[in-house]
Amino acid sequence: MPVSWTPASADTVVHGDNLDVLQTLPDEAFTVIYLDPPFNTGRSQTRHETHSVRGTRAGAVAGFKGVQYERIRGDLMKYDDRFDDYWSFLEPRLAEAWRLLADDGTLYLHLDYREAHYAKVLLDALFGRASFLNEIIWAYDYGAKSQRHWPTKHDTILVYVKNAASYHFDSSAVDREPYMAPGLVTPEKAARGKLPTDVWWHTIVSPTGREKTGYPTQKPEGVLRRIVQASSREGDWVLDFFAGSGTTGAVATALGRRYLLVDENPEAIAVMRQRLPGASFEKA
Ligand SMILES: C[S@@+](CC[C@H](N)C(=O)[O-])C[C@H]1O[C@@H](n2cnc3c(N)ncnc32)[C@H](O)[C@@H]1O
Repeated sequence: MPVSWTPASADTVVHGDNLDVLQTLPDEAFTVIYLDPPFNTGRSQTRHETHSVRGTRAGAVAGFKGVQYERIRGDLMKYDDRFDDYWSFLEPRLAEAWRLLADDGTLYLHLDYREAHYAKVLLDALFGRASFLNEIIWAYDYGAKSQRHWPTKHDTILVYVKNAASYHFDSSAVDREPYMAPGLVTPEKAARGKLPTDVWWHTIVSPTGREKTGYPTQKPEGVLRRIVQASSREGDWVLDFFAGSGTTGAVATALGRRYLLVDENPEAIAVMRQRLPGASFEKA
């Protein structure tokens, strides 16, 4: 069922499968799209969705590479077919994300270390290497640590812009962070803090902290805050169609941005009803 959202709508949360919802939204409406899809833990049942999309819709969207993309995808999938199911789920959603991004917009795709490198190669082929802006490493230090290898304590956020010539990025709007060695800079500089780089040290959501909603995959507001501050202006629309507990909406509201969130899980919708009392809720 089409959703009623337009850029004139209030902040909105939609309950439904994101692909159905995305297909009903207007082109180029969002300045930031942040996506934190479920990790590749076996969604093989979604495989069938892509075959009609591959080489047709994705190839037809501006900025998408046709033949070369198909060849790279084929080679990668021969190498590791476990990724095939996952990418078959993501690809049509990424094609829609690209269509929905404004000309000055930015896509942030949050992945774990098992997926990030495959996804990087495919996204370069899909969106064009010129659109690749950053690989952000979100590093944390929490929980059990393996004794058999270096404990894996980071996620990767791949950042792509719609138009490399006109994307919005305002580093002066981003909260600064303490210097690692404040004694090496002037007291004024130390007091002001430094610009974050592409490696973000940030704790996970504290199990006892104010932010905690109880939703299992909840991401910290501090990570989302940087994304929204740098890549959008007040009043811009932010889209998150793997919304979970609604972290993107909470941050967008605090920063004066507007948001559209989508999730298919009734538990996520229940958490967002509590967390985002100002939003309008609808079912797709
Ligand atoms: C990793 S969680 C997102 C967590 C979120 N970033 C937060 O801070 O709470 C991924 C979410 O995607 C949702 N999801 C997975 N497949 C979906 C689909 N096809 N349509 C809509 N939501 C989906 C899941 O229900 C889950 O809430």
